[in-house]
Amino acid sequence: MAPTILFVLMASFFIPTNSHLELTDQAFTSVALSQQGLDFVKNLLIDEAISSIIPLQLPKIEKSVKIPFVGNVHMVLSNTTIYKIDVSESYVKPGDTGIAIIVSGATCNLSMNWYYSYSTWLVPVEISDRGSASVQVEGMEVGLTLGLENQEGTLKLSLMECGCYVKEISVILDGGASWLYQGMVDAFEGQIGSAVEKAITRKLEEGILKLDSFLQTLPKEIPVDDNASLNITFVNDPLLSNSSIVFEINGLFTGRKRAPVPKHRLENSQSSVFCPSSSRMLGITLDEAVFNSASAFYYNASFMQWIVDKVPDQSLLNTGGWRFIVPQLYKKYPNDDMNLNISLSSPPVMRIARNNIDAVINLDLVIDVLEAGKVIPVACVTLVIRCSGLVKIAGNNLAGSVKLNDFTMSLKWSNIGNLRLYLIQPVMWTLIQTVFLPHANSQLAKGFPLPIIRGFTLYDADIICSDSRIMVCSDVSYKNQTILSVSNALGL
Ligand SMILES: *[C@@H]1O[C@H](CO)[C@@H](O)[C@H](O)[C@H]1NC(C)=O
Ligand SMILES: *[C@@H]1O[C@H](CO)[C@@H](O)[C@H](O)[C@H]1NC(C)=O
Ligand SMILES: *[C@@H]1O[C@H](CO)[C@@H](O)[C@H](O)[C@H]1NC(C)=O
Ligand SMILES: *[C@@H]1O[C@H](CO)[C@@H](O)[C@H](O)[C@H]1NC(C)=O
Ligand SMILES: *[C@@H]1O[C@H](CO)[C@@H](O)[C@H](O)[C@H]1NC(C)=O
Ligand SMILES: *[C@@H]1O[C@H](CO)[C@@H](O)[C@H](O)[C@H]1NC(C)=O
Ligand SMILES: *[C@@H]1O[C@H](CO)[C@@H](O)[C@H](O)[C@H]1NC(C)=O
Ligand SMILES: *[C@@H]1O[C@H](CO)[C@@H](O)[C@H](O)[C@H]1NC(C)=O
Repeated sequence: MAPTILFVLMASFFIPTNSHLELTDQAFTSVALSQQGLDFVKNLLIDEAISSIIPLQLPKIEKSVKIPFVGNVHMVLSNTTIYKIDVSESYVKPGDTGIAIIVSGATCNLSMNWYYSYSTWLVPVEISDRGSASVQVEGMEVGLTLGLENQEGTLKLSLMECGCYVKEISVILDGGASWLYQGMVDAFEGQIGSAVEKAITRKLEEGILKLDSFLQTLPKEIPVDDNASLNITFVNDPLLSNSSIVFEINGLFTGRKRAPVPKHRLENSQSSVFCPSSSRMLGITLDEAVFNSASAFYYNASFMQWIVDKVPDQSLLNTGGWRFIVPQLYKKYPNDDMNLNISLSSPPVMRIARNNIDAVINLDLVIDVLEAGKVIPVACVTLVIRCSGLVKIAGNNLAGSVKLNDFTMSLKWSNIGNLRLYLIQPVMWTLIQTVFLPHANSQLAKGFPLPIIRGFTLYDADIICSDSRIMVCSDVSYKNQTILSVSNALGL
């Protein structure tokens, strides 16, 4: 029954925007729901659907029956309410043409009021009687086939087929001379059954429409910070196989205030890959291009520049501390304070290989002397820092850290003559280890959000680095809230 809402949720794992199937539209992130993931979402949606369906009031049923010796009997069933639905078995199965959801062996309980009236030639007054009844519907089956396609970057959910079938029904009358009428309720069973079938089918159709409009209104980007967001436009139709659904999204960093998106060469080599163990619910695959788009974005936004005026060993920021390393600096500016102006000379490049992540960072480090309130740049050292990276999951974010492998340096320019780089090397090492990397790591520790709808949390995630991609293989849990509050949480 509830399978309706299934797709909203599934789709809400991932979030849409506009795209056309142009050659430029490539997917750099994919989200795969395995059979386990589909089952999890399906069960959640069935629970949600049931609680949104009940109590469900059915239309009044009236019937006049000619009964031998009695005459015309007028029967009315009113206030028929489905107040409980139990589902024992359900399945979800993606196929070539759509996603089938089947609920079998559902039972539902109804309550109703009954009323009989008749007059016979035996007794010249009208006889009437009333009471309540409980109805049990067993072996109810519900089947849905849903279509899911990409419509200009948004997921379009459609109901291709929907059916509800009631197998068995039993009505127990209470009150009045119920023993007398019990035998006649058979006449109603078919009508009650089809009222239940109709009402549930209508609810499901409504549910699918709601889910579809929910999909249409999902946010188009996930904010990463004040300036950047992730483009989570759907690219291509979802890929349905017999045991998974893969959603492909753009996945790249973009400016929130429509800052120019840096042009970088991005190539997505292969199509989606799957988590090696199909027992995980969810597999999110991020191409190396995602990380390099972040790097290009922040580089161009020139957030990657900063002035260092405090270091753990503060003597390194006074010419006195450089007395023996760069004697001419001390001579020219004795005991003046200094600062370091660090900027990236090109976007850091990340390479992901099997079980290994490398990053190369090119820095220009300008040594400034502060004299009489003036900042005097004295020399610039170019550094090429090679790091190895680690990624981990922090909540629903993919976070990381880097550690130094090695670095090389050269003098870019100097106003104080030549510098003896071998003497400066240990100072640079200290600065990289105690200033630059801790700073970078404090930025990286926050990470960026993975395309997961609010309300769901990754747990027990594994990260696998393969050739040019990172795969997050995880289970998810869902916090105790209804779909409605999920949409609230999304600000819809
Ligand atoms: C987001 O991705 C889609 C699909 O690749 C693309 O068409 C669109 O231009 C992107 N939007 C931004 C702001 O980069
Ligand atoms: C209709 O059914 C509901 C739920 O079973 C019950 O609470 C309510 O009292 C009934 N109303 C009438 C008029 O019988
Ligand atoms: C609902 O119906 C089932 C049988 O279909 C029955 O076993 C169960 O006791 C009923 N529950 C209530 C609350 O009436
Ligand atoms: C966003 O950009 C502004 C400058 O445009 C900068 O001051 C601010 O620190 C940036 N925020 C983040 C989180 O990078
Ligand atoms: C799914 O399809 C693969 C081949 O594409 C087949 O080997 C496998 O048995 C199928 N699984 C089910 C459950 O149908
Ligand atoms: C970087 O951004 C500036 C404006 O902030 C823009 O003029 C420039 O073209 C961008 N560079 C690249 C490589 O996109
Ligand atoms: C830092 O150095 C860069 C060049 O490397 C320069 O463009 C920038 O103005 C300097 N910033 C400050 C505050 O001195
Ligand atoms: C969710 O919360 C409601 C009340 O807030 C509670 O009745 C229900 O048992 C909770 N469900 C779960 C699965 O924790």
